[in-house]
Amino acid sequence: MTKPIYILNGPNLNLLGLRQPEIYGRETLEDVADACAALAEELGLSIRFHQSNHEGQIVDWVHEARLQGAGIVINPAAYTHTSVAILDALNAFEGPVLEVHISNVHKREAFRHHSYVSLRAEGVIAGFGTEGYLLALRRMKTLVTT
Ligand code: DQA
Repeated sequence: MTKPIYILNGPNLNLLGLRQPEIYGRETLEDVADACAALAEELGLSIRFHQSNHEGQIVDWVHEARLQGAGIVINPAAYTHTSVAILDALNAFEGPVLEVHISNVHKREAFRHHSYVSLRAEGVIAGFGTEGYLLALRRMKTLVTT
């Protein structure tokens, strides 16, 4: 059994589908988790899908992935723009890291244009809606198998 891909989601993404649907769409995080699980099965990957509103919990999952995960897909949400702690944790992870944003952060406020996580990520997807998670998972398949 190959190691799982960790799909990690930051603060407020538990409100996906309810919060600012004009920006983030109407799909819920559960819908995203289901779509990721279906695609992972098709690709022959296993996933661990998590969301937390707490920075330290996300750091802990990255540490868990260090020992148990093959790769990390992460939407750090607002922590993207603030968290040196998540960047440091990702720098201690040896596998591939892909960063996902549902919205096009570059079209939004200037404070969303900088990402600490991008200093570590192999690739970044922004503005593809929740489909970005599926695109990242397809790319992850390539990264962990080649
Ligand atoms: C987000 C973009 C962030 O700037 C924002 O704080 C989020 C979600 C996105 O998926 O578009 O909460 O990461």
